[in-house]
Amino acid sequence: MIDLRSDTVTKPTKAMRQAAFEAKVGDDVYNEDPSILELEELAATMLGKEAAMFVPTGTQGNQIAVLTHCNPGEEIILEADSHIYFYEGATISAFAGVQPRPLAGKRGQLDPHLVEASIREDDIHQPETSLICLENTHNRAGGAVVPLENMKDVYHIAQKNGIPVHLDGARLFNASIASGINVKDFAKYTDTVQFCLSKGLGAPVGSIIAGPQSFIKKARKWRKRLGGGMRQAGMMAAPGIVALKTMVDRLTDDHSNAELLAKGLEEVGGLSIENTVETNIVLVNTEGIGMSADEFLDILKEMDILAVSFGPNTVRFVTHFDVSEDEIRQVLAKLKYRFS
Ligand SMILES: Cc1ncc(COP(=O)(O)O)c(C=O)c1O
Repeated sequence: MIDLRSDTVTKPTKAMRQAAFEAKVGDDVYNEDPSILELEELAATMLGKEAAMFVPTGTQGNQIAVLTHCNPGEEIILEADSHIYFYEGATISAFAGVQPRPLAGKRGQLDPHLVEASIREDDIHQPETSLICLENTHNRAGGAVVPLENMKDVYHIAQKNGIPVHLDGARLFNASIASGINVKDFAKYTDTVQFCLSKGLGAPVGSIIAGPQSFIKKARKWRKRLGGGMRQAGMMAAPGIVALKTMVDRLTDDHSNAELLAKGLEEVGGLSIENTVETNIVLVNTEGIGMSADEFLDILKEMDILAVSFGPNTVRFVTHFDVSEDEIRQVLAKLKYRFS
């Protein structure tokens, strides 16, 4: 199978397995796991934030951020196609008790004027706006890089109004590699940030949330409340250290493979590409071949290729290090033969 469903399907490298095997461990609930402490310090330094915390998943990292920033009855502004709004099971409402204020964005970007106009007034009838969430790269916008300028504009509006900003940077390192902008520079325009070790960076488990020391102190309590206080989890953190030290620069290969895939798919009669491919995600429209996304996925499966549905006529392919350039060429050859 050539598995292009997500960059989460990668298997840990030999170096990661070795690091897990040899990891120094302790009880992380007592803050005594040396590998976790090392990972948290490394991540905070890379992001230019005071402190960081290891969490099991990106979803938990985002939810801890919302729970830490907000109180029940408040409102958060976020992009209408963002992961937090679209794919996290309404946890912001179920657990944090906040009301979402989704704003339609363009290629993952929030319109700063619309953000400003959506901030609630000091009025007894209205909820308080207590958080603005951004996403970079933006998954449903096809791995689009949200430009630094856009983040800066939104951040200045947030600051002017005393509202914190959280960045879902599950694929922030992809944004950095594609734009040539250091993650630290993106992180300057957000108070807190979550990024995933287990996507393109290839670690088997885990995410980081980072921000001010006082925020992380509060966030540690929320992680414990959610059952995310792990014990000798240094075995899971050690591959994360390998990921941060050795797997960032190679994201460029995933991006060039995505470009190769998109160009080739466009040559398959009837298929069209919906997104401007900037990172490792390609969105393909199947209307021109007279098939639904699910029908096209079935054909792919018969050819030992896996992708996922992203809408009635949209299929998402994600490149990653477990699929080589050669395998991308095989995918294209098979599809060209089938649809010629
Ligand atoms: C943008 C974004 N945020 C958050 C997540 C959640 O990460 P996890 O699967 O580790 O919960 C994902 C996962 O695909 C994502 O794409």
